[in-house]
Amino acid sequence: EMLEKGGYDHFMLKEIYEQPRSIRDCMRGRIYPEDGTVQLGGIKEFADKLKNIDRIIIVACGTSWHAGLVGEYLIEEYARIPVEVEYASEFRYRNPIITEKDVVIAISQSGETADTMAAIEMAKEKGATIFGVCNVVGSSIPRLTHAGVYTHAGPEIGVASTKAFTAQVTVLTLMAFYMAQQKGTIANSKLVELLTELDCIPDKIHKALLSNDVIKSIAEKFKDSRNCLFLGRGSGFPVALEGALKLKEISYIHAEGYPAAEMKHGPIALIDEEMPVVVIATKNSSYEKVISNIQEVKARKGVVIAIVTEGDTEVKKMADYCIEIPDADEAFLPLLATIPLQLLSYHIAVMRGCNVDQPRNLAKSVTVE
Ligand code: G6P
Repeated sequence: EMLEKGGYDHFMLKEIYEQPRSIRDCMRGRIYPEDGTVQLGGIKEFADKLKNIDRIIIVACGTSWHAGLVGEYLIEEYARIPVEVEYASEFRYRNPIITEKDVVIAISQSGETADTMAAIEMAKEKGATIFGVCNVVGSSIPRLTHAGVYTHAGPEIGVASTKAFTAQVTVLTLMAFYMAQQKGTIANSKLVELLTELDCIPDKIHKALLSNDVIKSIAEKFKDSRNCLFLGRGSGFPVALEGALKLKEISYIHAEGYPAAEMKHGPIALIDEEMPVVVIATKNSSYEKVISNIQEVKARKGVVIAIVTEGDTEVKKMADYCIEIPDADEAFLPLLATIPLQLLSYHIAVMRGCNVDQPRNLAKSVTVE
């Protein structure tokens, strides 16, 4: 087993460190930065249909649902197609309104999640076109869908999803750009710029992983916390949700992800000197707003751990701890900001003596309802 773990203590850590490579694999043959084009062979036959769709519905569970939320931001931003993101388990029982003009994207690492499969079957009966975003080649979901894009992250053994999540986000980013390209909602020059940058994301993830020691020392400080709040805005919000899910899954610390501005409507009541608050505070369009949210937390004596852009000075003045990630276009923020949160959860869980690869009560894939 040690051999399978490639010298790492746990599969989860190995899979976290595999991300520069898994994301590279996921993009291989799909992006052409020089001419600003994206090619997705798996959905090519629907390229024309994508020009005229009314709406996209994303269905998924767990971490895959968080990837779906990132997809919503990207598809709406670049392809200007309205997107709804649904928990498969809710969607399937809700008699939802679906027409032949809808495209449903089902996201699933395993390709075997029972609720996601049932949601697909229902949407298919109502005439929607179904795309899959799956990791396991030849699993059940790719066989149920009309078309799809594999994430090619390689086998994920750790129950808590890491590299499969970032690969899902990568595929959804590619899909957003692909749809934008088909619809003409993006200038080719912009696509050249974005794809050139996307091509460098694996290297930037490698760089983000170099903060491991800093993150480990922060984990030491918070390993005995009972609660933890994660805040983000825009596409930093699904990153916050995913950060909280990771922490609760493997360390059993109660954690909640919240849109930073929504904090005032509830979680702020919980903040005191015992409450660590992880904030996605990178330099992007919501930077100033996030800074005022940090001030609100500090005013209530909360302890702030901020994920910041390399070279940041403003947040550093306020936050108790900072973890830097490389600068990147806002489109790629979720890919980078996720990395330190995975490492933070990992180290906290190890320090608490938890079984990180097989957390209690959780299954890698939920094949029953
Ligand atoms: C389980 C796993 C999660 C996963 C979720 C959805 O809860 O523990 O890591 O995100 O199922 O699984 P899927 O294979 O459909 O992505």
